[in-house]
Amino acid sequence: DFSNKVSIKEVGPRDGLQNESEMVPTDAKIEWINMLSDSGTSYIEISSFVHPKWIPQLKDATEVAKKIKRNPNVTYAALVPNSTGLERALEVNIDEVCLFLSASETHNKKNINKSIADTLPVLESVSTESKKANKTVRGYVSTVFGCPYEGDIDTDKVISICDKLLTMGVDELSLGDTIGVADPAQVAKVLEELLRYFPKEKLAMHFHNTRGTALANVLVALDYGITNFDSAVGGLGGCPYAKGASGNLATDDLLYMLHRMGVVTGINEKNIIEAALYIEKYVKNLSSNQMKILKSER
Ligand code: HMG
Ligand code: MG
Repeated sequence: DFSNKVSIKEVGPRDGLQNESEMVPTDAKIEWINMLSDSGTSYIEISSFVHPKWIPQLKDATEVAKKIKRNPNVTYAALVPNSTGLERALEVNIDEVCLFLSASETHNKKNINKSIADTLPVLESVSTESKKANKTVRGYVSTVFGCPYEGDIDTDKVISICDKLLTMGVDELSLGDTIGVADPAQVAKVLEELLRYFPKEKLAMHFHNTRGTALANVLVALDYGITNFDSAVGGLGGCPYAKGASGNLATDDLLYMLHRMGVVTGINEKNIIEAALYIEKYVKNLSSNQMKILKSER
């Protein structure tokens, strides 16, 4: 038994493109985001205000944010790692600020160059400043289901980080299977524990499909009453730790499954496929099953 309404957050323009080896031309990103804005989606993560040397693929975040056509029914969000990032995000009036850190000490250090303990006060101040600017705040927790350096992650660590993020005012938590190692039984086990402490409405799931388990994981999360999921058009993204592997859970595959189950998302599948076909000209491989089927039919 599951809810018949699910909210999907499109992360392709950020999580998808940050893992592409080539930078997609800015004008193409803008055109593509405009297509996504017309798909019925309520949320698009358009870029990252991180250091351009760390993620050069998204160094045009300011220009993208300025030039896209904003649909009033869409929340336009971006990743923000620190106060410099927030300044840049506020300059272009981003609607929602997405904080991020890792449940793994090693991954956090490699990703944002700080220990978890040193990251939290930075995020707290970004959260406070975002609220002052009337922005909603999202908090990503990475490597919840496993880390490329440390392996298994203790769920108590995840709970402690989630608790701190909520205390600093974060409106929603996104639990990341950053490298796509989660299996359905593990998702059940982790959610069982997390839901003892946090209301299901505060949780979103961010699955990567590296090993083909993302949809199965979604199904389990639905059973636990979770109705917020992140996904990327065409399964963009790949995985920096597994060359050739699938990327984020594909929005088109997620829509295929949910819509046929009678779940309402408000998103038009046809528009998402068109957006996937558009961005395909600029990226290496789209891994979604919908795109593979489409190509085999051509
Ligand atoms: P750092 O080098 O430690 O930064 O990087 P710093 O504070 O020491 O500053 C060094 C210089 O960078 C300074 O300039 C700053 O002004 C500048 P200088 O004085 O030397 O000329 N700087 C900035 N410039 C532009 N924008 C900024 C910014 N901040 C500092 N925001 C930092 C620390 C966090 C900035 C860096 O490590 C970084 O940008 N990391 C981002 C990495 C990233 O984006 N990773 C991928 C996203 S996370 C993810 O994908 C997981 C997720 O999808 C969920 C899941 O799947 O689990 C979300
Ligand atoms: Mg991700």
